[in-house]
Order: sequence, then C-alpha cells, then structure tokens
Amino acid sequence: MNDNNALSDNAGTKSFDYDNILLEQVEAGIYRLTINRPKSLNALNAQTGDELYAAIQAVGRDPEARVLLLTGAGEKAFVAGADIVEMQDFSAIEGRAFSQHTIRTFRALETMNIPVIAAVNGYCLGGGCELAMSCDWILASEKAVFGQPEVNLGITPGFGGSQRLGRLVGRAMALELLITGRQVKANEALTIGLVNHVYPAEALMDEALAMARLIAAKAPIAVRLAKEAVQRGQDLDLDNACALESQLFGLCFSTADQKEGMKAFVEKRKAKFKNC
Ligand code: CAA
Repeated sequence: MNDNNALSDNAGTKSFDYDNILLEQVEAGIYRLTINRPKSLNALNAQTGDELYAAIQAVGRDPEARVLLLTGAGEKAFVAGADIVEMQDFSAIEGRAFSQHTIRTFRALETMNIPVIAAVNGYCLGGGCELAMSCDWILASEKAVFGQPEVNLGITPGFGGSQRLGRLVGRAMALELLITGRQVKANEALTIGLVNHVYPAEALMDEALAMARLIAAKAPIAVRLAKEAVQRGQDLDLDNACALESQLFGLCFSTADQKEGMKAFVEKRKAKFKNC
C-alpha cells in the first residue's frame, strides 16, 4: 500500500497503489473507491479497513476533490460483511478493537467534507451494509441485497449498524432486520428508505457518475456546508439546528461563489464557481 504514490495513465486518470482497494480519480473532482477482494465477496478484513482509512485521507487532502463514489469489485457483491474467516478466533479485546478501529474509519468517511455516494452492485451485508450506510446516500442495482445477518453468526453489528439503520429506516424496521437477520432486495430497500434510487445493474455506475458530475458542477463550499448542516443538525434540537443553519447560510455570503452564483442568475448565464 502506498497512498502517497499516485499513478497517472495516458488518459490522465489518477490511480493509487493499494492491495485490497482501488482508488481512482476518474475525472476532474470525481474519485471512485472500489473494495477489491472479489474472491471473498469484498469482505472487510483489517488490512482493507486500514487501506480504506488511508484512501479517505488521500482524497481528503485533495482540495479539488468534489465527490467520492464507493463500490465493490465484481458483479456479485458490494461488500458481504466483515471478514468472518479473520474474525472467527478473535478474543473479546480483539473484537472490540476491530469494531473501534472500523467505526473510526467509517466515521471519517461519513464526515468527509465532500458528498460520498455508495453504488451498491450486489450483496451488501453486515459490515457492507454498515459501510454503505456511512455514505451520504445509496444508489443500488436491481441485484443489490441488503441485510444485517450478524445474529446468524452469534454476534451483533460492530461497525455502527445498530445505530445508523434505525436513523435511516426507523426503529421498528431496524429492529426487525437486526433481530431476524432478514435480507431485503433493492426495491424493498427503496421502499423503506435505505436507498435513494434503484437502477438496472448495467446502468448503475453510469448513473452514479452522472450524479457525481451534477454535484461537481455546483458551488463546492455550498455543497460542503449543506452536508455539514444536515449532519451536525440531525443530533441537535430544532432551535439549535436552525441556529446552525443560519450561521452556515450567513457564511455562504462571505464566498465569491455566492456572488458569482447570484450574479450569473441575474445575468441569465451559467455560473463559474471557483471554490472560494
Ligand atoms: N467473510 C469472509 N469470506 C466471505 C464472506 C465474509 N463475510 N462472505 C463471503 N465470503 C467468501 C466465502 O467464504 C466464499 O469463499 P470460498 O470461495 O473460499 O469458499 C466466497 O466468499 C464466495 O461466497 P459463497 O460461496 O458463500 O457465495 P454464495 O453466492 O453461495 O453466497 C452470500 C453469497 C449469501 C453473500 C454468502 O457468502 C454469505 O452469507 N456471506 C456472509 C454474509 C454475512 O454473514 N455477513 C456478515 C458478516 S459479520 C459482520 O459484518 C459483522 C460486523 O458488523 C462487523
């Protein structure tokens, strides 16, 4: 693994050197991170978690980054969970450390200052579902299957699933899925609010890229502050959350992009944002 060592091909696509993930800058401002252990259905072992953390830091260091897409290699799985083979002989202390370490990584992903979108192309189970839920929203292929099947293994979720699932789908549905281990297909995931859109498998990445391009064309600071308003606001009472919104709204008026965005509207032209 070498997260500082960016490689470029002739088309100008930047990629990075890891063993278990692929990180590419697919076009200006748009990064794609692929969990790449298809033989194990992209199961998350400790090394993959470490590489994921390093990749998040690498993208976070690029001031030109606008969107991160997260997906799984192969046609079968996004991520089929934490690596059961690696976990099976853990002691309690090792289990707790694995959980704490990965929760820190997923939180780093969740709080990145750019939107992070999961493109879920197949099995999205256990730690995989927890990874997808740490993204800002989920796009799913018709083949996607979601679930928290940990109870079948004698464990609870360990990467934040017991907390994030209820925030997304409500307490009762979260409890049903966590306690029965029932898996839901893409269309049910859409109905319960776990995913935002469902696409045919062959269209998923194109749709994800189209959404990323749409976001990359917006005013970057406004995008960042909108994410911050939702993320920080959701844990506050309404008065404090609205006060936070007022602060962030006011902050926008200190940016050149606000002046440009409104001037362009008045002059009936497309705005040229400069991220300042
Ligand atoms: N960990 C390690 N290896 C895994 C894996 C996982 N989570 N999921 C799949 N694999 C491996 C299989 O062992 C198999 O390897 P071999 O070819 O070496 O035997 C390979 O991936 C292909 O898997 P299957 O042969 O099982 O494929 P399938 O099509 O028959 O079934 C599946 C697919 C239903 C997803 C099945 O693999 C499965 O149930 N996987 C486990 C799902 C699971 O329980 N996830 C939760 C893990 S615990 C967790 O994530 C805890 C947490 O919150 C921290």
